[in-house]
Amino acid sequence: MQRVFCCLRKISLIFFCCIFMLPHLMSKANAIQTVPPNNGMRIPTLNKMGDMLLYLDEITTAFIDQSDPARGPILDVGCAYGYISSLCLEKELTVTALDIEPRHIAVLEEQTLNHHKKRLTTVVNRFPDHTPFEDNTFQHILVARVFNFMDDHQTAAAAKKLYQWLKPGGKVFVTVESPYLKYWLNFVQYFEARKKAGVEAPGLLTDPHHIAPTRSPYFPDMLNFHDPDTLSQFFIDAGFKIETCHFISRPEFPEALRHDGRESVGLIAVKPDLMR
Ligand SMILES: C[S@@+](CC[C@H](N)C(=O)[O-])C[C@H]1O[C@@H](n2cnc3c(N)ncnc32)[C@H](O)[C@@H]1O
Repeated sequence: MQRVFCCLRKISLIFFCCIFMLPHLMSKANAIQTVPPNNGMRIPTLNKMGDMLLYLDEITTAFIDQSDPARGPILDVGCAYGYISSLCLEKELTVTALDIEPRHIAVLEEQTLNHHKKRLTTVVNRFPDHTPFEDNTFQHILVARVFNFMDDHQTAAAAKKLYQWLKPGGKVFVTVESPYLKYWLNFVQYFEARKKAGVEAPGLLTDPHHIAPTRSPYFPDMLNFHDPDTLSQFFIDAGFKIETCHFISRPEFPEALRHDGRESVGLIAVKPDLMR
């Protein structure tokens, strides 16, 4: 009788686990699966918008080095899972991290140490629209590898917003991919011809899947590429003074992407302090 009772208890315990614990464990497993494995240098985004780099280039290094905890908050636009935002928090900076993809922001929030959380504000929104920042808020703003997903009208509007959100004397730090990445080399002749002819938006690629089918899973249906001339013009038009804008090489990129040292463009621009 005692054995039967013991057996019934075991069965009811298994039944309880199945009913109550399984959905919980399944949702945990799903949550883990949605964050793709780290391949060492880059983690794919969850919304087909390229990947997040796990190392610093000269522009992101300058952004962190030049930001000072005593000079107000910084903004990381298109932060993805927040690698650079986390480094800024380590440096005691007050950080606003913005991304269009809520699952990226959820990972950042979950992985932020408790003692950093009070200096982190997260925003899920499409930049530059619907982003409710006051004028003259940030000492510095980083927009790393986001303008590739915005057409020229959105980029022009974004440069103006960035200008408004920065404190006088504040800087915007930008990186963007150029058409000289190996995947897009078939597009370079069009980019160069369109630029030479003065066509609007020479870097706009409306069918990236046709040009680079193997990269299709990682990109949306529209991409926009820049060189230093096309990128800097948006910031000049918005009122910025260009400190530097040049090609940057990406020795860390996979062989399939590297080309001739012009893989990306880096820009640092200052909002002039008119009171000085
Ligand atoms: C290529 S990843 C770059 C991530 C990180 N900044 C880096 O350089 O490693 C682009 C990120 O920008 C975000 N993004 C793209 N367009 C955006 C927009 N209009 N507003 C906010 N986030 C955007 C994507 O969700 C993605 O996380």
